[in-house]
Amino acid sequence: MLDATSKALFHGLAQVETLQRLASKYGMAPGSGFARRFIAGETVEEAVAAVSDLPGKGLGLTLDYLGESVSSAEAASAATDDYVKIIHAIVASGAERNISLKLTQLGLDVDRATAVDNMRRILEPADANGFFVRIDMENSPYTDATIGILDTLWQQGHRNVGTVIQSYLKRSAADIQHLNGMGARVRLVKGAYKEAKNVAHQRKSEVDGAFVELMHLLLDEGTYPAIATHDPNMIAEAKAYAKSKGYTSDRFEFQMLYGIRRDLQTALVKEGYRVRVYVPFGQQWYPYFMRRLGERPANVAFVLRGIFSDRG
Ligand code: FDA
Repeated sequence: MLDATSKALFHGLAQVETLQRLASKYGMAPGSGFARRFIAGETVEEAVAAVSDLPGKGLGLTLDYLGESVSSAEAASAATDDYVKIIHAIVASGAERNISLKLTQLGLDVDRATAVDNMRRILEPADANGFFVRIDMENSPYTDATIGILDTLWQQGHRNVGTVIQSYLKRSAADIQHLNGMGARVRLVKGAYKEAKNVAHQRKSEVDGAFVELMHLLLDEGTYPAIATHDPNMIAEAKAYAKSKGYTSDRFEFQMLYGIRRDLQTALVKEGYRVRVYVPFGQQWYPYFMRRLGERPANVAFVLRGIFSDRG
């Protein structure tokens, strides 16, 4: 995890339009685009083809149709239509029925009711076809609304839906207790956004310490939690804790991002753990991609090499 300054830098760069235009032109070029390391394709068909080897390696997957911060009801409705089509395309492809999405993609910035209605439109075909739907967690102004919308959907009888909790947020233990009480599935992550000191831990040691405590809460009392990290120390802590408590490896799963630490993903499967890969795809890949660069400066060198070799 990088410090807050690097996150802020990449957050700023993500807003620069010229960079965005350049990246869109070169990033996903067929075959050689530098963003392809992290983004599985621009269409669901491309993404499903890119990850067709995962089941053979014993890896699960969740497909994420990239998009966020939609500002009109029409755009949110169009994204919802896309998701419904994607659900049917996943069913037709035979890929695993597991998707992740963001509420600002479904109109949370327009109003709460729009996001709830669009979620229902997605959950209808998702429930009918045995999907699990994970609501990703965005930055802290959306935390209350995200958990509140999950509560609403839960009260309406939707059970194949869960969300994400970030260990950098100081409120997270209370949120996990609430979600554990409901029986909702939680994915635990460190947190990818730039957050202020009053709401979020800033130092890696604090974020990691909180991650371990929250992981204990989830393994003890949660419903099939996902421990989502590439950090070998966090993974070792989870394995050791589960072992000390006699928890079997089917009680939880590890999750990692597409294109990151593939070696670790397959090593865990060989040790008998469940591992799911989060597979992003779509044309709106730029903000996601910039968050991945912000996590690790070495990725910038990787991208620059890609750009020059693309043109050379
Ligand atoms: P940390 O950042 O400490 O990195 C540990 C090690 O992992 C690094 O030393 C490096 O080896 C490797 N690594 C980490 N990031 C890398 C990168 N970008 N490129 C290459 N190597 C890298 N966040 C959020 O706020 N809301 C969400 O809904 C989600 N959803 C989500 C799903 C899944 C499946 C995962 C794995 C992660 C998320 N995240 C997320 C992102 C998460 O909050 C966090 O930003 C990243 O996982 C990076 O943190 P790590 O736990 O990997 O540790």
